[in-house]
Amino acid sequence: MVGTELPAPLRQRIASAWRFRHHVECEARARFTRLALWLEQAGAPDALVELAHRSAEDERRHAEHCAALARDYGAPVSEDASVELAEIAPRSLTFSQRTLYELVAACCVAETVSVGVLMRLRPAAGSERMRAVLHELLQDEVVHSRLGWAYLAHVAPSESVTFLGRFLPDMLEATAAEASLPTSLSPQDDAPALLPHGVLPHAERRSLFASAMRDVVMPGLEQHGVPTGPAREWLERHGLG
Ligand SMILES: [Fe+2]
Ligand SMILES: [Fe+2]
Repeated sequence: MVGTELPAPLRQRIASAWRFRHHVECEARARFTRLALWLEQAGAPDALVELAHRSAEDERRHAEHCAALARDYGAPVSEDASVELAEIAPRSLTFSQRTLYELVAACCVAETVSVGVLMRLRPAAGSERMRAVLHELLQDEVVHSRLGWAYLAHVAPSESVTFLGRFLPDMLEATAAEASLPTSLSPQDDAPALLPHGVLPHAERRSLFASAMRDVVMPGLEQHGVPTGPAREWLERHGLG
């Protein structure tokens, strides 16, 4: 067991953060596997289909790292737990719109937030092993984020992407929930001592989410012709603008 020098509530907080991340990585693996299929059916360039397959494989590796860390901090993780993968895009959209919706939500939004979080965590790692895991995750998540931007750039010249604008608040809501922006906090959630163990204190989580949206996601979407008015209103309303 690692982290035995820490107060038990803090160690438990770290262990449960890594267990939660394991679950997120398993879901990401299943999502990329399905996206690879959808991209193929949508006639996307082979390079993007291949990138989705590779991303699924990356997420499998990430899940293993997260499970090992959760276990080492004292939270057992079942590695073969099955994943229920919901479709996040509304059924009212066409197949090609749903494919684009999932790629934008999973890659342009969620993976970009992960990149911001990992960039903050990597230099604060308290051990060589933690640094190596965070480095590997960061390198891969950057590529996963690019898959979404590349697909958006691929479809934008030939299909309308403006429909995404009205759904952006739902995507932000889902990513904010996944990025653990809880409304009720325990004292452990804001402890700076979380950082060397690869876990962000809550206050930093909020500001990193806000800056990823402001500096990368909103400008990127606008550049491809996606209207961001409703998303910017959502961010303002939640104090993240
Ligand atoms: Fe990952
Ligand atoms: Fe990823």
